[in-house]
Amino acid sequence: MNKALTLIGPFKQLVSMANLPMKGALKDSQLQIQENAGILLEGDKIKAISNFNDLKTQYGQEANLILLQGDQVVLPGYIDCHTHIAFGGNRANDFAMRNAGSSYLEIAEAGGGIWSTVKHTRALSEEELTEVILKHADALLEQGITTIEVKSGYGLNVAEELKTLRAIKKANESSKAELISTCLAAHMCPKDYEGSPESYLEWIAEELFPVLKAEGLTNRIDAFVEKSAFTAEQTKPYFEKAKSMGFDITVHADQFSTSGSALAVEVDAVSADHLEASTAEEIQALANSNVVAVALPAASLGIGCAFTPARKLLDAGACLAIATDWNPGSAPMGKLIESASILASMEKLSNTEVFAGITFRAAKALNLKDRAILKAGALADFIIYETANYQNITYLQGSLKPARVWKSGMEVFR
Ligand code: NIG
Ligand code: FE
Repeated sequence: MNKALTLIGPFKQLVSMANLPMKGALKDSQLQIQENAGILLEGDKIKAISNFNDLKTQYGQEANLILLQGDQVVLPGYIDCHTHIAFGGNRANDFAMRNAGSSYLEIAEAGGGIWSTVKHTRALSEEELTEVILKHADALLEQGITTIEVKSGYGLNVAEELKTLRAIKKANESSKAELISTCLAAHMCPKDYEGSPESYLEWIAEELFPVLKAEGLTNRIDAFVEKSAFTAEQTKPYFEKAKSMGFDITVHADQFSTSGSALAVEVDAVSADHLEASTAEEIQALANSNVVAVALPAASLGIGCAFTPARKLLDAGACLAIATDWNPGSAPMGKLIESASILASMEKLSNTEVFAGITFRAAKALNLKDRAILKAGALADFIIYETANYQNITYLQGSLKPARVWKSGMEVFR
């Protein structure tokens, strides 16, 4: 049977994430849950969402029918809007040293830190790195993540950053999830660069940015604004150059010190990510802006530091997204529901705030308007859980796994 339409259902609960505000706190009483719902697909998009029996009466003859048994809950495909999954090597020794009391400097001197991942990533060919990205993307897809942001940033020169971004592009061509790439050449000033941080950033902007445009490798530029990486003063001209070329800006901000979020607001970045060190002033400025605040709880768990002040950000009126930050150094976990559920317990977030943070609010962080809400016209990206109640997803802290995942109208995991 190869009909143009497909009807799936009935779902015990359909959590569409529709009709919720983009910014601010959300109560679970605001969440609309449809019972006995069906989803009608046409090509890669949702054509209609309604009562299953009504859809069946209207489209039953002309549609392929996927009839579900038992209790099923459906939500939009999740979006992981911050990852560093294009990496070689492993930093288990950093983790052990940190937990034994070693400082950032001692770990770097022992051959760890971001620079050690740069060396391992440079040692991989573009093909090998593509395979690594695909393996990591598959592990995220099985969690129901249908859109994955992937940063470069372990190349740290023009040729190696290009290798990484080309590998992400290649991986996207065969991945079942959609990969959105970001250039993080400004992750740190590379140890083998003979010049100032300012001249490194000028070199990247002059030599790399035009190639990113010409090859369609990314439309997003990120920088790590922190004492150990780049100051806001050093980063500002870099971002201004990127903006003038039409790139979206995203910032690693306020992770250890209040450093990057003010710059994110100033340059109208799409997102400011981390924010563990943000104080009332930074929180209010973010809430007053259009910048999405991205919490990365797995990084707090990996390093053993405070969580992003998610509750305060939401109560101040910010748009809060939640992502894995999957990377070999600070966030090796790579689990979205696990880390978001822990953040919910620690920061007292409602289920609606958590699911908004990994669906439509995460889409805003990536400037994507075509997905992450189940409604007519949106991309048919959705997750089916075999459970009677969506609350079980966060309650079970990740041990309830998706039964089936659909991306752009195709079943990609079962
Ligand atoms: O998001 N903050 C900087 N970058 C990464 C860590 C990268 C690494 O340690 O390899 C982060 O936590
Ligand atoms: Fe990061």
